[in-house]
Amino acid sequence: MSPKIESHLQEERVFSPDPEFSAQARISSLAQYKKLYRQSIQQPDVFWSKEASELAWRKPWSQVLDWKAPFAKWFVGAKLNVAENCVDRHARSHRRNKAAIIFEGEPGDQRVITYAQLEREVNRFANVLEKQGVKAKDRVLIYMPMIPEAAIAMLACARIGAVHSVVFGGFSADSIVDRLEDSGASLIVTADGGWRRGKIVPLKENVDAALEKYSHVRKVIVFRRCGQPVSMTPDRDLWWHEEVEQVKSSHKAKAFDSEHPLFILYTSGSTGKPKGILHTSGGYLTGTYTTFKYIFDIREEDVYWCTADVGWITGHSYIVYGPLANGATQVMYEGAPNHPDFGRFWKIIEQHGVSIFYTAPTAIRAFIKAGDHYPANHDLSSLRLLGSVGEPINPEAWMWYHKHIGGKRCPIVDTWWQTETGAIMLTPLPGCTPTKPGTVTLPFFGVDAAIFDENGKECAPNEGGKLVIRQPWPSMARSIYGDKARYQKTYWSDYKGIYTAGDGARRDQDGNFWIVGRIDDVLNVSGHRLGTAEVESSLVAHPAVAEAAVVGRPDDLKGQAVVCFVTLKESHQPSDDLLQALRQHVGKSIGAIAKPDDLYFAPALPKTRSGKIMRRLLKELVTHGKITGNVTTLDDVNVIANLAACMKSTT
Ligand code: WTA
Repeated sequence: MSPKIESHLQEERVFSPDPEFSAQARISSLAQYKKLYRQSIQQPDVFWSKEASELAWRKPWSQVLDWKAPFAKWFVGAKLNVAENCVDRHARSHRRNKAAIIFEGEPGDQRVITYAQLEREVNRFANVLEKQGVKAKDRVLIYMPMIPEAAIAMLACARIGAVHSVVFGGFSADSIVDRLEDSGASLIVTADGGWRRGKIVPLKENVDAALEKYSHVRKVIVFRRCGQPVSMTPDRDLWWHEEVEQVKSSHKAKAFDSEHPLFILYTSGSTGKPKGILHTSGGYLTGTYTTFKYIFDIREEDVYWCTADVGWITGHSYIVYGPLANGATQVMYEGAPNHPDFGRFWKIIEQHGVSIFYTAPTAIRAFIKAGDHYPANHDLSSLRLLGSVGEPINPEAWMWYHKHIGGKRCPIVDTWWQTETGAIMLTPLPGCTPTKPGTVTLPFFGVDAAIFDENGKECAPNEGGKLVIRQPWPSMARSIYGDKARYQKTYWSDYKGIYTAGDGARRDQDGNFWIVGRIDDVLNVSGHRLGTAEVESSLVAHPAVAEAAVVGRPDDLKGQAVVCFVTLKESHQPSDDLLQALRQHVGKSIGAIAKPDDLYFAPALPKTRSGKIMRRLLKELVTHGKITGNVTTLDDVNVIANLAACMKSTT
């Protein structure tokens, strides 16, 4: 048995919800949360059927859950139309003329789309897809910039029962080919391009390159966003604006089975070919609807903004399905956070009166690096709630977010979940959960989370182990598309009938969950297993540091030596003194065991395109001196050359 993951970093700061916030929240006391949580675990059928009944079903379910581990069916026998729930339902209510999407393009162009308008747009595009012969269960690949048409295309697919597979607009032609081959999509929805840092991302060109290698795509529908000339292949390529003009704005939506496939979303996986995570209709919608409602405590008058891209699960669940199922108003922004400068996000918040803001630690750390004056120059008083997702948020980054963005008044919901879980699993509820910087706090209703040791025994408080979920939940993935065996092996083979997330975590004496990093990244120093998050958080707590990544290098004596890569705030410069100071700092805050053996000042860290630090590559670099592994998910390949250079200059 391998030793447990140890924890050395103690966090004492506690932030309780403001009584004024609690008073108007759906869940306003910890006692109320605990009672409902207990019920939701003891009788998940009761909890989930009550939540699901707030949605529009065409036919009721005969059974809430059919569970043959690891395969679940939720709301068995029920029928619904997902798009009708997200759009039509509101377009026929008092929300008819309410803004669904407030769009801002990177160049500064703006559009407001009401629910009534969204209904017409989705209907039109559903008619276009049907006219092109797309049928229920056919796969449609969507490769779009962050513009409303991306959501419209997804909803149009849902409306006709087609399965969308969104490919992030930053991916290359080869990534498109892989996803086409795996999903067997026969139609692509794309745009001529999208704006990113003042330049055009050549989406159509990438599609054309992909289609030289894959010949089973019959049609490509192209939205004109940037207006630059693109080549259109006769009989295959169609302009979006020409097609929608030829069809009606009404469309009769069919009802689909609750387990009808809704989408496939590819997640990189640390090695090998991307996994096509399959989500279905009724359970996924119930999960995203319910979590969005309670966790963002959404109000009719809120302006919500999630900065993710629709190409990631966060964009699926918390830009498209969750917010729209709730009839929320949201901001959608096309471009980069630093265009024309690092004030862009804060300007958008000020201009549109954003009240709920949901972003990722990678963005927060980039803002910290850039300097406090950017947010300080804007009026952020419309904000009432902040969220974080995607990586552990280092406590000092949490504090910065709390102070400089939340004005010390906004609760922060640090939400843990995965592409595979479909919806948020561990999170504070803003009206009732005391938060501490760095913890994702407690499980959401119906989520039976625990920390297991290697033998499948639950760990004692503060003992690190593997994060698992013991009961099925509605928005869980149903499989890896076309590969049930891989699904079973990847997520369900550590402990029988139990979901393993692949993350290391611990639970403190109050029941709060602390994610310590991916299990694959855990360091083993002199027999002590250390999660990456704590050492990194210790470094980020130093006033000079913006960002840190920590990996193990094989060491004869210790098993593994601790190697750190740090990026500094704009206001600081690398020096030998700083290097020594940082080593001492980690030694003091965590203990001698975690004291960095090597420390490098890097201009930037290698990240995935969704902003997660790729420790795997750093590990390879410090072990073998070069990187030979798969770098296709890397955001910027230049980072690697710069890292190799910085390693030479700091040693
Ligand atoms: C990590 C993103 C710590 C975690 C929704 C997980 C987090 C992986 C958090 C899933 C968080 C996500 N705190 N770690 N709040 N949120 N993660 O599939 O390692 O892109 O397993 O889904 O991100 O990433 P994915």
